[in-house]
Amino acid sequence: MKFGGTSVATAERWQTIGKLAASRRAEGVRVLVVVSALAGVTDALKALSAEMDGGKRKHAAAAIAERHHALAIDMGIELPARVAERLESLAHLAADGPAAGQELAWQAQVQAHGELLSSAMGAAFLSAQHLPTTWVDSRDCLKAVALPNQNERTRLLSAMVEATPDAALQARLAGQGEVFIAQGFIARDDAERTVLLGRGGSDTSAAYFGALLKAARVEIWTDVAGMFSANPRQVPGARLLKRLDYLEAQEIASTGAKVLHPRCLSPLREPRVPLLIKDTNRPELDGTEIGPHLREAVTSVKAISTRKGITLVSMESVGMWQQVGFLSDVFNQFTKHGLSVDLIGSAETNVTVSLDPTENLLDSDAVAALAADLAKVCRVKVIAPCAAVTLVGRGMRSMLHELSSVLAEFGQLRVHLISQSSNNLNLTFVVDEDVVDELLPRLHELLLRSGSLRSDDDVQFGPTWQALYGRGEAQMVPGWWRGERQRLMNLAAERSPRYVYHLPTILERARSLKTLDAVDQCYYAVKANTHPQILKALAAEGLGLESVSPGELQAIDQAVPADTPRLFTPNFARREDYVTALATSASVTLDALHPIEQWGEVFAGHAIMLRVDLGRGLGHHEKVRTGGSSSKFGLPIEHLGRFIECAERHNVRIKGLHAHLGSGILDAAHWGEVYGQLAALADRIGSVEILNIGGGLGVPSHPGEQPLDMIELNRVLSEVKATYPQYKLWMEPGRYLVAESGVLLSRVTQLKAKGEVRYLGTDAGMHNLIRPALYDAWHEIVNLSRLDDAGTTLYQVVGPICESGDVLGNDRRLPETHEGDVMLIAQAGAYGAVMASHYNLRDAADEIVIE
Ligand code: LLP
Repeated sequence: MKFGGTSVATAERWQTIGKLAASRRAEGVRVLVVVSALAGVTDALKALSAEMDGGKRKHAAAAIAERHHALAIDMGIELPARVAERLESLAHLAADGPAAGQELAWQAQVQAHGELLSSAMGAAFLSAQHLPTTWVDSRDCLKAVALPNQNERTRLLSAMVEATPDAALQARLAGQGEVFIAQGFIARDDAERTVLLGRGGSDTSAAYFGALLKAARVEIWTDVAGMFSANPRQVPGARLLKRLDYLEAQEIASTGAKVLHPRCLSPLREPRVPLLIKDTNRPELDGTEIGPHLREAVTSVKAISTRKGITLVSMESVGMWQQVGFLSDVFNQFTKHGLSVDLIGSAETNVTVSLDPTENLLDSDAVAALAADLAKVCRVKVIAPCAAVTLVGRGMRSMLHELSSVLAEFGQLRVHLISQSSNNLNLTFVVDEDVVDELLPRLHELLLRSGSLRSDDDVQFGPTWQALYGRGEAQMVPGWWRGERQRLMNLAAERSPRYVYHLPTILERARSLKTLDAVDQCYYAVKANTHPQILKALAAEGLGLESVSPGELQAIDQAVPADTPRLFTPNFARREDYVTALATSASVTLDALHPIEQWGEVFAGHAIMLRVDLGRGLGHHEKVRTGGSSSKFGLPIEHLGRFIECAERHNVRIKGLHAHLGSGILDAAHWGEVYGQLAALADRIGSVEILNIGGGLGVPSHPGEQPLDMIELNRVLSEVKATYPQYKLWMEPGRYLVAESGVLLSRVTQLKAKGEVRYLGTDAGMHNLIRPALYDAWHEIVNLSRLDDAGTTLYQVVGPICESGDVLGNDRRLPETHEGDVMLIAQAGAYGAVMASHYNLRDAADEIVIE
């Protein structure tokens, strides 16, 4: 168990250490505690060892002595004899200063006192607390090895230890007690000199001890529960990483996470000793467990990290095309300047490498000197400051197809270098430094939404940082169906597959839309779900209904009172469809020149809405983005003049403007922007009274995704309304109202194992719910028959359709499932039944509304 500087600085903290060590003792294992120096003491010792003035050094040593006297009082113990001895030796070292030629060895000796002191304090305190604790001198256990690439400085101040399991040491300690305390950061070399382990030293010591003793595990106790899927200071929604294998953890540690020094993982890999990171203040929280983890795991991106201060050096060979030895010529220059290269990209005549500031002392002199030497063998360009953005996960290459939305984000930036690590664990993009702060949260969000960061897998991912340490968060509300299990089981027993819609959930959403003060009329986009009972209920709540075809108009007519306001917003519809719609009370929307240019007489004397293309699309998948020239929707702004001319010619009044940019948007700011743009356009036209800012209000589907903030949306809309009070505001959401209300029930038909893959077949398939196949959409899937059992097995959940794409859920962790079990697919109320097909002549799922 390793504890850092703040954890050992007060008696209260030592009490915690005692409790934790005792709890491990109670599990029947022996405990070795490894400690750092009291917080601030290592820095004080460093300053002391850099001080030339003997008087000041003595003064500094006295201040350190004072800290330990005060701690003894705080602990309620006499100053332990071992501490008194150490303080005396420190005072001597400070008074004497280094002997000529011995500066580095003296520095190491001075700095080693921090841990020697803190561990001696701890041994005395814990023993006094009825936890007899044996003090161990780490230098008697950890032997530094001299490596060929080390110089005297690194040998003394940044030493390496060869840690292979040591049976003799295990036996020696076993004879000495049950609880031990030793120092982090220090070791001894062949010449019997005290040496230091350099940065991350105490974690590394703990790992060395773990390996030497072949420990059951190494626990690093710190101020946070573990590693997260992104830097939580920038991404509060970052998830705790509960399980990582050594290489993944090492990759995350070396590309950004500060919680663990990357160096402390390699000693543990060979002896397969697991390492656990835990929060000292919240020991009840799961931490990050790093180990061999042979159990099956969902393939997933684990983390995204950014590193700033990266310098790129691009080297173009001049007239040396394919010349043998070019690489060795240029790399020799890096060796000569002592610079360590991180990423490499190469082309036939160019090599570009990155230099990482954490590995190098990258002042501008160093880079300039390197560039000057390189210029002798090639054309050099230095690109800085850059930042490296790294995605980490085992098997990155097999995940590329899931990363398209993430990659698209980079498509909008200047990417200087892309590198894929040869161990298949990371994918790195080097971009300009100034874009990364804003980029990181967006990329993390996209990783969640694309399902490439499998936050649903609670074996690997824990809660968000915000849930653990923030001011709480808007949690995804548990599905209504959890409370209706028996009723749903009965419904599934009667018939499957079957859609069930929960009316109270729909009404709740309708009421939350009513909190949008700026909206004058809300329409429900019936394309999401045309069930008559749902149309009735929403009309009764005061919503209008939006349709896109004569069929939908008819469904509306049959379901709701004649005075329910309605819209007709088709796209590439037939001439006669408009004729039909104009004969009803619906507000008709045009979104092209063709109808008004070619069939202007049809619209003569009518007032219409005009849907415009604002030039960009948004939404959960490229197939649901409806803006820009690659999308077929809306009148391009450059046709506006011609449209107005035709309208005037045919006595058609443009009473409103409309825009809808896509579906599944979770950012409240979006509708404010559309509203503002439409209002500005309306001012140019003159006749406009109404602005319809579309639908697209999203519903989070992945665990950890933040729901749309309705309070913020209300604020954003009210702000625009205050600027343009002359226009009425309409909206037309579909998904938001019905998605969560619906579940698709099905029954398990067959199970199959094929190599590593376990298939779970259900009687529902892509003919009932096409969203997973069409958009890679994520729907939560549970085994309703075994709702309370733990998920143990990874399944491909598939349907009966003769298509390989008939997959409803990929790699879902579910309880061991059997034929006849009832499966529930959640959030299937929007674009589920309405998009069903008769493919393979399979029956449609029937639909039931429950109150
Ligand atoms: N208004 C217009 C003009 C639309 O085209 C749509 C949806 C909506 C409103 C309602 O959008 P919502 O609020 O439901 O996002 N099948 C896809 C969604 C396609 C949406 C088509 N238009 C899916 O399952 O995700």
